[in-house]
Amino acid sequence: MKTILIFAGSARRDALSKRLAAAATLGTGAAGAKPTLIDLGDFDVPIYHGDLEAASGIPRAVVEFRHLVAAHHGMILVTPEYNGFVTPLMLNMLCWASRPSPGDDFGAVFAGKPVALMASSPGRLGGVRAIPRLRDMVAELGMLPVPGFVTIPAAEQAFANDGHLADPALADSLNGVIRRLLQAIR
Ligand SMILES: Cc1cc2nc3c(=O)[nH]c(=O)nc-3n(C[C@H](O)[C@H](O)[C@H](O)COP(=O)(O)O)c2cc1C
Repeated sequence: MKTILIFAGSARRDALSKRLAAAATLGTGAAGAKPTLIDLGDFDVPIYHGDLEAASGIPRAVVEFRHLVAAHHGMILVTPEYNGFVTPLMLNMLCWASRPSPGDDFGAVFAGKPVALMASSPGRLGGVRAIPRLRDMVAELGMLPVPGFVTIPAAEQAFANDGHLADPALADSLNGVIRRLLQAIR
């Protein structure tokens, strides 16, 4: 069975991006794949600093994250938009995890991994400006972003009580991207 690692770039308790990640988790399961939803807030990771890496190596939580990436066929990344960019939390984890870890033998752990990109915002643009930044970043890491993306504007009103997207058009868009992600996994 195809396995998909899913996370949002916000650790905030009521994060809209976490709600979108949860909706993507439901959609991935419904599409016949096995999703793993993680919360980056559960990973105790300091801000990347070269001196810290030189002194202490790769934090244990980053090694755990790299193991999770390696154990899944594909990924879904959901980012909030901060000043048109991805969040520091997302950037920090991807930077740390791009570093080779002597504790594992995955090397470039992201290389060749298909990935679907999503964004959400309480605003009317849905975080769309962060998508090309995220796409560039994951491509630089060797991931294979699938065509298209999902953006959820007015995200505070976007979710039904059962966690699904309330708007059928947005739900179709989510399912379409998930379908393309699963097709990209051989
Ligand atoms: C530093 C900062 C910058 C932000 N910049 C944007 C932005 O460029 N576009 C946008 O739509 N919302 C922006 N927002 C508002 C966020 O979209 C909003 O706080 C959102 O709820 C954060 O994501 P989360 O709910 O997943 O935690 C910004 C918020 C912060 C804290």
